[in-house]
Amino acid sequence: MNDYIEARHIRCPLPFLMPKITFTDASGTARTVEAEIGSTVMETAIRNNIPGIEAECGGACACATCHVYIDEAWREKVGGPSPMEEDMLDFGYDVRPNSRLSCQIKVSGDLDGLMVSTPDKQA
Ligand code: FES
Repeated sequence: MNDYIEARHIRCPLPFLMPKITFTDASGTARTVEAEIGSTVMETAIRNNIPGIEAECGGACACATCHVYIDEAWREKVGGPSPMEEDMLDFGYDVRPNSRLSCQIKVSGDLDGLMVSTPDKQA
């Protein structure tokens, strides 16, 4: 998806394109929020006071407290973790094949509708 409009030779981010991300907590409560393109899923969670995302290192891939599970339907589009992220996931709580660190997932228009869930506790 093209995240920009071109007008008079100026490329501007689409002001109306705010991808929605749904966070479901361990009790099953779902919260859908709007995300800024170029931010991360973790930053979106923190900005919207999503419970279950602590992000102690501020997004440096050094704490594993922003751990989420990617909904099966979104795994391919989101992709897998980098080797560095995979190493940090070793410190996560209840890590599964669909685990990712949300600070390592950049929001793009392609992720509109993304669904993730949070573990019942962080590392
Ligand atoms: Fe620390 Fe993601 S915020 S690893």
